[in-house]
Amino acid sequence: MTTTADDVKAWTLASLPAGSANNQSYQVINPATQQACASVPDCSAADAKKLADASVTAFDTWKHTSAFHRSQLLRKWFDRIVSGANEIAQAISSEMGKPIKEAVGEVMYAAGFAEWYAEEAKRLYGETFASQHENKRLYATRQPVGPVYAVTPWNFPAAMITRKVAPALAAGCTVIVKPAEQSPLTALLLEQYWREVGGPEGTFQVITSNNPAEISGVFFQDRRIRKLTFTGSTEVGVLLYRQSAETMKRVSLELGGHAPFIVFADADIERAAEEIMACKFRNAGQTCVCTNRIYVHRSISARLIDALATRISALRVGDPADEGTQIGPLVDEQGLNKVREHVEDAVGRGARVVVGGQALGGLYFQPTLLCDVAPGMRILEEETFGPVAPILEFDTTDEVVAAANDTPYGLAAYLWTRDLDTAHRVSERLDYGIVGINDGAPSTAQAPFGGVKMSGLGREGGVWGIQEYLDTKFVSVALAPR
Ligand code: SIN
Repeated sequence: MTTTADDVKAWTLASLPAGSANNQSYQVINPATQQACASVPDCSAADAKKLADASVTAFDTWKHTSAFHRSQLLRKWFDRIVSGANEIAQAISSEMGKPIKEAVGEVMYAAGFAEWYAEEAKRLYGETFASQHENKRLYATRQPVGPVYAVTPWNFPAAMITRKVAPALAAGCTVIVKPAEQSPLTALLLEQYWREVGGPEGTFQVITSNNPAEISGVFFQDRRIRKLTFTGSTEVGVLLYRQSAETMKRVSLELGGHAPFIVFADADIERAAEEIMACKFRNAGQTCVCTNRIYVHRSISARLIDALATRISALRVGDPADEGTQIGPLVDEQGLNKVREHVEDAVGRGARVVVGGQALGGLYFQPTLLCDVAPGMRILEEETFGPVAPILEFDTTDEVVAAANDTPYGLAAYLWTRDLDTAHRVSERLDYGIVGINDGAPSTAQAPFGGVKMSGLGREGGVWGIQEYLDTKFVSVALAPR
């Protein structure tokens, strides 16, 4: 399909009504057509400074609003996101290629964070505690950390924003979101909806830019911006963590993963295969919690490979705008090349392609099943971020637990067994922030999401997520002596 200039809608920033200070824009590319589908302001450091000032000004008022008021606004935002689900899903699908049905699912997942934190805003508690002095009264209370800078990824353009913005606003913080260069449209819609329901000026702002380092530099140097929250690669996370140190920001980092999926000998093969499909092929494998290594007990490996091969061959690859599509394109050329290189490297070192294995033209890659995968292959060391399922065999529990933990990452891990002891004992031994037992899709708004080791710091979601936006203040009151 050829895109004409008329199809390319020019978006503006609500926070900078006249467009970016230098009036530059950049094009958003639809991965399915590899043509521009929109253009957005390419903001500069001067724009970032304006947004930081607005965020700081708004914080002065927002932090003093009542939790009940913030709760009501968040509830309205939730309702607006739900009513705009199709519009947001279309934006997601055109800017990063997620199949439209799955994109609607992401919008509902994203809305869940607005709903949860609308409720959670009212449930922030403090503590009183005893003093050794009769006349002293001691208590600890929670206060918002201050203006927040949020850097969000392209793979979940809606959910990774609401998972940060909803708890920040609920806690009384203001937020500036810099969405990934590839996926600014969803962010702009979410900000527009917040304004439509009465979200005050400066409380939630979006800044788009094709030069993230220039923009981010402004926020890192600004002492008034009190927190960084980032979802993305470990490599970039380490860089941003270092830069945050200069102004001692609070930091939350949701970074890369390399999830093992262990299938024990007693597994229900058909159900295990279903969970692996849900886990591995979600968002065409472009998910931090997707399994990247499937360990299957040698006694059942042939049966599991058959069950997976049937399902993978049946996946419908195609235009993300079609309701029936299950696997869309990869986000960009770089993403496609990595997937291709991982498969070529594995095959070159002795892996066997059971299904797929080839690029399909454009940014599409065949859903792929590899067996005879072995240590030393790149696919076992780096995140593939694509629709490739590598299978390894194991014999003993100790051996598979050691292999599963032998990675710098620690985000999510999965296991399938019918044995209660194995389920609990192995789950306890896995060095991961999230464990799915017979469950390949554990993410939900009310649960803690986050990793250990090089997978990051802090937790998002549930009662844990809002604590990342709160400081503890100790108050000591000395009464007049009796
Ligand atoms: C991610 O890939 O970072 C998010 C996945 C999820 O929330 O389940």
